[in-house]
Amino acid sequence: MASGVTVAAVGATGAAGQMTLRILEERKFPVRELRAFASERSVGKTVTFRGEPVRIQRIEPAAFKGVEIAFCSAGSAQSKEYAPMLVKAGATVIDKSNAFRMDPDVPLVVPEINPHAVRHHRGIIASPNCTTIVAVMPLKPLHDAGGLRRVIATAYQAVSGAGVNGIADLREQTLAWARGETLAPRHFPHRIAFNLIPAIDRFEPNGYTGEEMKLVNETRKILETPDLPIAATSVRVPVFTCHSVAVTVETETKLAPERARALIERFPGLRLWDDPAQERYPMPIDVEGQDECFVGRIREDLSSPTGLCFWVVGDQLRKGAATNAVQIAELLLG
Ligand code: A2P
Repeated sequence: MASGVTVAAVGATGAAGQMTLRILEERKFPVRELRAFASERSVGKTVTFRGEPVRIQRIEPAAFKGVEIAFCSAGSAQSKEYAPMLVKAGATVIDKSNAFRMDPDVPLVVPEINPHAVRHHRGIIASPNCTTIVAVMPLKPLHDAGGLRRVIATAYQAVSGAGVNGIADLREQTLAWARGETLAPRHFPHRIAFNLIPAIDRFEPNGYTGEEMKLVNETRKILETPDLPIAATSVRVPVFTCHSVAVTVETETKLAPERARALIERFPGLRLWDDPAQERYPMPIDVEGQDECFVGRIREDLSSPTGLCFWVVGDQLRKGAATNAVQIAELLLG
């Protein structure tokens, strides 16, 4: 599309929205016009795109007229309200929220894994939960080669997954701690500085949290394995950026660690960092700012003859959110 497309960013002032603007710039997405939206309180403020200020507009049907692709990252309730308005205005919506992910009429897409799903959209395409994306990336090549029989995943999730308020909580509590003070949490239910919170999202009747059930249900949908047994634990950790996931899988056919390393190394969007002798394994501080998911600590599961354990880290604002969404938009143009 030589002349480019008219793009809307809904939630443009938020952590994922800001990163979406950066990724559109970095990947030279052909934006002809960018329209930025956020809450009422931000109307009139500006965000920066390609070095220019873009004014935050008030959300109303007339403002969506002519939008071709819309990125929504303003939360589920907002997506439920605005996505139908955008579709009515003729836009294709790439939604970062939880609003439509499990809707059978809405494709849930990780472009390296199920790009074909994009073809069946009816105006809305969902981008998965940030932890799901990081975890499912290495699961795909292992599933294709060995057939997944069971997955156990424990996620160590950065505060920026909770948006700008989560970042502020960790920053302010850490600064207060350095001054010898204690600051009450404002966003998280407990202190996050120098602590772990083993509950993200509300608890469901089965004892799992909403965040954990997203990992279960979305992974099954993306891999097209509706009955795959998955057990998930999600923990909020005092890390600013990057989600890390410790994963154990059982496969139908045994995958030796060497074979798994070769499969991971070949898969687009994955990088192998697995050299224990050199203390080389992925960590959030190394992965922040990168679009690939990094895998290491690949080893046999000593408790199962066909089990394999590994560790994967991804920048959840990039591949876990903005990069994945922009890759979906590239599929639409492609
Ligand atoms: P605002 O900055 O005006 O509050 P994050 O996930 O980082 O917390 O960001 C949430 C994003 O969603 C922000 O851009 C925020 O805008 C936006 N947002 C929050 N509530 C609404 C709303 N009711 N309508 C539109 N955008 C909203």
